[in-house]
Amino acid sequence: MQGDPVALKAAIEAGRKASFFCANCHGETGISKTPEVPNLAGQNPAYLLEQIRKFGSGERQDAFMQGLIKVLKDEERVQMALFYAAQAAPPTKANAAQAARGKDLYAKLCARCHGELARGNDLYPRLAGQNAVYLQTSVARYRDGTGIRNNQLMAIATAPLKNDDIAAIAQYLTQMP
Ligand code: HEC
Ligand code: HEC
Repeated sequence: MQGDPVALKAAIEAGRKASFFCANCHGETGISKTPEVPNLAGQNPAYLLEQIRKFGSGERQDAFMQGLIKVLKDEERVQMALFYAAQAAPPTKANAAQAARGKDLYAKLCARCHGELARGNDLYPRLAGQNAVYLQTSVARYRDGTGIRNNQLMAIATAPLKNDDIAAIAQYLTQMP
């Protein structure tokens, strides 16, 4: 569908309509209204679909999202993922000193998967412009083996990080365009 501009446009429009309820938390164009809720704008569509699948199977835990995802049809999931992926993801303000420290840590430990510009790709999520609070919580969950987020690559990548390091990386990422 992504190779067919007319079908893609129709799918994005259907996704926009289907996402009216999601907008309460994720914003009308995927820019979240609260720090704990992730932005979905500009996110890689394959990643979005995979997370929806993980909420559905319980591999990723969030009581509200798990309940909600069960009522979505397969077609709607794809349309919403394409809609959010097509939205622009603006950067946010950050603490400059922390961001400078976060930059080095990111280049050393994260860039090889998430990319130099943190925009992700077909395999890895975009992190640029994401909410700092959400980033911080998510990274700590992978590191701490809470079972809320499960991914072995992320568990290994985050193992050496102290809480201060995580905060610094989150400040760096949130101000990236
Ligand atoms: C009541 C608020 C709320 C509503 C409504 C809501 N979400 Fe969420 N969503 C969240 C929260 C909170 C998280 C983060 C959970 C966590 O901490 O891991 C989330 C996470 C996600 C993620 C994972 C994003 C990522 O970066 O990993 C996707 C995809 C998602 N939601 C899609 C949707 C869709 C599609 C809808 C509408 C059908 C929707 N959400 C409605 C609160 C909401
Ligand atoms: C070996 C590849 C790899 C490395 C290195 C890596 N990641 Fe990831 N990252 C992933 C994968 C794969 C996912 C998706 C995991 C899932 O499905 O929960 C992910 C997910 C994430 C998420 C969740 C995004 C969202 O929208 O919820 C954050 C945040 C993140 N990584 C931050 C980092 C940081 C910070 C580092 C460096 C300390 C890092 N990653 C290093 C592969 C990697």
